[in-house]
Amino acid sequence: LTISPFIASLPKVELHVHIEGTLRPSLRWNLAQRNNIPLRFKSQEYHTYEQLVASYNVTYNHRPELGGRRDVPTFLEAYFAGCEVLLQEDDFYDLGMDYLSRCQQMNVCYAEPFFDIQAHTRRGVPAENVLNGYLRAQRDGAAKYGVRSNWIFCFIRDEPVEDGEAAYLEALPWGKSGHGLFHAVGLASNAYERPPSLFKKAFERARADGHHITMHCDFGQKDTHEHIRQAIFEVQTERIDHGLDALDRDELIAGLVERGIGLTLCPHAYHRRTATEVLFPKLRQLLDRGVKFCINSDDPVYMHDVWIDGNMEKAYHYGGLTKQEMVQLARNAVDMSWADEALKREIY
Ligand code: ADE
Ligand code: ZN
Repeated sequence: LTISPFIASLPKVELHVHIEGTLRPSLRWNLAQRNNIPLRFKSQEYHTYEQLVASYNVTYNHRPELGGRRDVPTFLEAYFAGCEVLLQEDDFYDLGMDYLSRCQQMNVCYAEPFFDIQAHTRRGVPAENVLNGYLRAQRDGAAKYGVRSNWIFCFIRDEPVEDGEAAYLEALPWGKSGHGLFHAVGLASNAYERPPSLFKKAFERARADGHHITMHCDFGQKDTHEHIRQAIFEVQTERIDHGLDALDRDELIAGLVERGIGLTLCPHAYHRRTATEVLFPKLRQLLDRGVKFCINSDDPVYMHDVWIDGNMEKAYHYGGLTKQEMVQLARNAVDMSWADEALKREIY
């Protein structure tokens, strides 16, 4: 699907993108050389750039019908394997700047990228390398590319809650009342049997520190309706990342609408595993039912290199949305963002 001039030129705000999911093979290759570390997944090494690029053909799980092949990484395994080249402050800086330069090319004027600090500290990388690298990218990206950003600290939900709480405390000096790198806290990684309520206290602490709250409730996952219910009514989230399954339950839709909770959707992520005629009518249903949502990319490099513009093109093309509706979705992202009011007015 090619990007139409209308979508390309539409001013955009991106609220759901994992910065580590924007690590392009070319930068990954260069960082591996710079840090003198092998490129690999488990016991397989990638010796050539072509092998590295081919490794982005991920599987969704290790289902027996795929032969249960353990040498083909799942999506999240590929994502965390990619992280291994990120060690020094400059590596995180380069990654942040690469994404923000890509934003400029796509007419994204403001973004709220997620970062997974635990994906790095658990490999022995000092937290300050991660945080200072992204902080410098936040400042230089605004100055050099004109792309402003407020970042989101994510708990890795399949790690112990206490580890997430400790990581949060270590990162706190870079939070809203400190250096101002991040202004919100999210919940990412594998949701299997890791419901939002496990992190209720951790989110309450973050809220008390003045941080906004969002959490992933991915489309089509086990217990997805219960996760959405907890996110809305127990943890009192302000946004939901994905959350498309709310359409199956009137009480969830009512909760979203009454509380003004918006969904950050990533259509290509669902389109990888859902038929067009099942998926795209859901966008129209959300519009009809008054649920606010916006369009985003999630992890573009691990999702066939489809970025926010490609995701918007899909919503426009397959969802049958009008130009006016696409403009409304772009404005929804401004409304749903946690940019300060002056910046919101400027980009609206
Ligand atoms: N962390 C990074 N990408 C993710 C995704 N697509 N879903 C859940 N957690 C993630
Ligand atoms: Zn995501």
